Amino acid sequence: MDIKGKVILVTGGAKRVGRVIAEGLAARGASIAITYRTSDVEAKDALRMLRRHGVEAVAACVDQRKPAQIRAAVRSIEKALGPVDALINSASSFYPVSLEKTTEAVWNDLIETNLAGPFWFAQALGPKMKRRGRGKIINMIDVSVESPWIDYLPYSAAKGGLATLTKGLAKALAPAVQVNGISPGPILFPSGISAAEKKKVLEKTLLKRVGSPEDILRAVVYLLESDFVTGIIMPVDGGRLLA
Ligand SMILES: NC(=O)c1ccc[n+]([C@@H]2O[C@H](COP(=O)([O-])OP(=O)(O)OC[C@H]3O[C@@H](n4cnc5c(N)ncnc54)[C@H](OP(=O)(O)O)[C@@H]3O)[C@@H](O)[C@H]2O)c1
Repeated sequence: MDIKGKVILVTGGAKRVGRVIAEGLAARGASIAITYRTSDVEAKDALRMLRRHGVEAVAACVDQRKPAQIRAAVRSIEKALGPVDALINSASSFYPVSLEKTTEAVWNDLIETNLAGPFWFAQALGPKMKRRGRGKIINMIDVSVESPWIDYLPYSAAKGGLATLTKGLAKALAPAVQVNGISPGPILFPSGISAAEKKKVLEKTLLKRVGSPEDILRAVVYLLESDFVTGIIMPVDGGRLLA
């Protein structure tokens, strides 16, 4: 797929990794829709930056734990930009919680944001892409799927479900739509992580350094441009899985 002139939806595109993906795709000539939940200031700023590339850009406020909000956002994005050619599911909820302290509310937050949300976005867009004869879906997963972190069990389980969903969607939407995942290693740490904790994480990679959102963007561009790749989960992790 040629990125130029396409309409691409990046969830969680107001900041961090999603923002870099959105800007990188706008720089390549795609019209961009981003979703955000609380980062309205950053979303407005992102729109200004995206439009500097001479493309159309819109933002929708969505709590992706609510399927009705997802469907409404997709309708408004399609009305503004036309049919969506590619969906990048990047929005995510990520924080530690022990097995003992996981409440129903925490479990639901992490599963609904990280697994159900991407499913409802894919349901709202995938069948339409299939009917139009082309489309791409990329889900942001996590290396913790291979070796779950005990302080992040609902998150790791949700991302594991998302990996399975990625393969299932690849089958359900073939041959017209290619569906793939990217499993980042350490790219951008959440705020509040100490230098010692960061060092510990980086020691568990072969390359002994943090990656960048641009490393993820490069993988996204590859998966958008390649029409013969579907159902894979691509690690972009500095060798985290081997170390
Ligand atoms: N950063 C890394 O090193 C790393 C490592 C492994 C995997 N990943 C994966 O790569 C993707 C991007 O990473 P990231 O660090 O940029 O993500 P992030 O900062 O954790 O989250 C991206 C956005 O998700 C949105 N979000 C959270 N809960 C939401 C909800 N209920 N409804 C709608 N949006 C919601 C937030 O939007 P608002 O700010 O607007 O509220 C947030 O800005 C994520 O899927 C993440 O799991 C990242």
